[in-house]
Amino acid sequence: MKYLVSPGQPSQVSTPLLIGSLATVRSSISNAAARATLQAATRDFKDQAGDTLLVNLPDGGIEQVLIAGGCDVGLNTTQYRKAIQAVASVLATAKVQSAVWTLHSTRVDGGDVYWRVSNGLTAISLATYVYHRHKSTPAPAQPLRRVTVLCDDRSKDSCARAVNENNALGSGLALARDLGNEPPNVCNPTWLLGEARKLGTLDKVTVSALDEKKMRELGMGSFLSVSHGSESPGKLIIVQYKGGKRGDAPVALIGKGITFDTGGISLKPGPGMDEMKFDMCGAASVLGATRAAAEAKLPINIVTLVAAAENMPSGRATRPGDIVRSMSGKTIEILNTDAEGRLVLCDAITYSRRFKPRVVIDVATLTGACVIALGAHASGLFSNDDDLANALLASGDWSGDRAWRMPVWDDYQTQLKSNFADMANVGGREAGSVVAACFLQRFAEDLKWAHLDIAGTAYHSGPRKGSSGRPVPALFRYLVTASGRA
Ligand code: BES
Ligand code: MN
Ligand code: ZN
Repeated sequence: MKYLVSPGQPSQVSTPLLIGSLATVRSSISNAAARATLQAATRDFKDQAGDTLLVNLPDGGIEQVLIAGGCDVGLNTTQYRKAIQAVASVLATAKVQSAVWTLHSTRVDGGDVYWRVSNGLTAISLATYVYHRHKSTPAPAQPLRRVTVLCDDRSKDSCARAVNENNALGSGLALARDLGNEPPNVCNPTWLLGEARKLGTLDKVTVSALDEKKMRELGMGSFLSVSHGSESPGKLIIVQYKGGKRGDAPVALIGKGITFDTGGISLKPGPGMDEMKFDMCGAASVLGATRAAAEAKLPINIVTLVAAAENMPSGRATRPGDIVRSMSGKTIEILNTDAEGRLVLCDAITYSRRFKPRVVIDVATLTGACVIALGAHASGLFSNDDDLANALLASGDWSGDRAWRMPVWDDYQTQLKSNFADMANVGGREAGSVVAACFLQRFAEDLKWAHLDIAGTAYHSGPRKGSSGRPVPALFRYLVTASGRA
């Protein structure tokens, strides 16, 4: 989708589709026949947030109107989201190539013009995404190509900024979702590296990687214990974006990139195992956020690390009881090979130290326990730094891609006790997502660190099965604010 901004009045536009509130739409139609059609069509319209009405108009500059219910009165942010999401899902099935958007004229308590346009356009990006790479007869392409935001003198700077940022965010979201949806016989660590390398064509972006030999030299025994059972070698992918000042400490983003998680020797049960292709959605989201930041030319430095490996059972696979030595020097007794995410992430966190990051944020489909705790509505947020945690929470609220903070108190650390190594990689049934975060915290130590457990939010199951693109909107918003632009 391409977003544009244009000055003008709704009453003067000519477009295949005008999106607006009931009053906006009424005031923009002057042709008598069209007014009569509109009058008849809207007679029973309830006009509540979430209601929509698509009306075909006879001969005029505006061929169709899409009316967003509730948008002539003041709304709160939740109602406004409901209204724009309903509009976006109608747009996803509309038959037009371009449309004009005016819904930022709605008054929203706690949402200025920039917020209203930003969230409106993100809703459109999310709803109009399609993935049919592997269909033998591809579904017809999404007809809608362009959405123009109609602005006036007062709103034009805010609108332009929201438009530019959403062109970048839309592109990052599509990347994250495409990578997540790719089947695991295609998306292995080497393929993921190839996709990451494509980011190198963007301004100020460089891409490199550590292969298994290099990781062995660095002592990443924990990471390597995961990829050991697989025919596909693991990769630590490094994407650097240098949009900030030289010498400015970078934000480090780390993504869990398990391209398929069978559980290893601690094999997972069969039903639903296909969804473990989504176990690289953390990696997909940090690559997507990095692409968005680079396309938006944010004045910030970012180091993105992707811990890419496949977790397979085989004659070479790690056994429960094996002890490995991580890059930090800490030893780990692997009691369950299905707790592999933390094993690749801990070495990536240690490796991130060489970039002297201002903060480290890891993103991972880490635990089933997080799905039980928070469901699909919020990502789990864990952090040893209140300012970082609050900034991420605020970014999630702002973008509608919310997280909820969970504790990482030392009280939980006892669950990771091992009789044979410095720690075990699992700690029983209680507080599974917290214990996993506490494991990572042992490697973060003095770093300003946050961990997002996206096991419940990164993808949809059931009939809507597919990558959601979360938490790219929250990460992008965080990067916009951290760059000093917000
Ligand atoms: N990738 C899974 C976590 C997961 C589960 C993501 C369900 C999405 C949906 C992770 O590697 C895993 O298997 N975690 C184990 C940890 C346990 C062995 C301590 C889990 O959650 O069961
Ligand atoms: Mn697992
Ligand atoms: Zn996993």
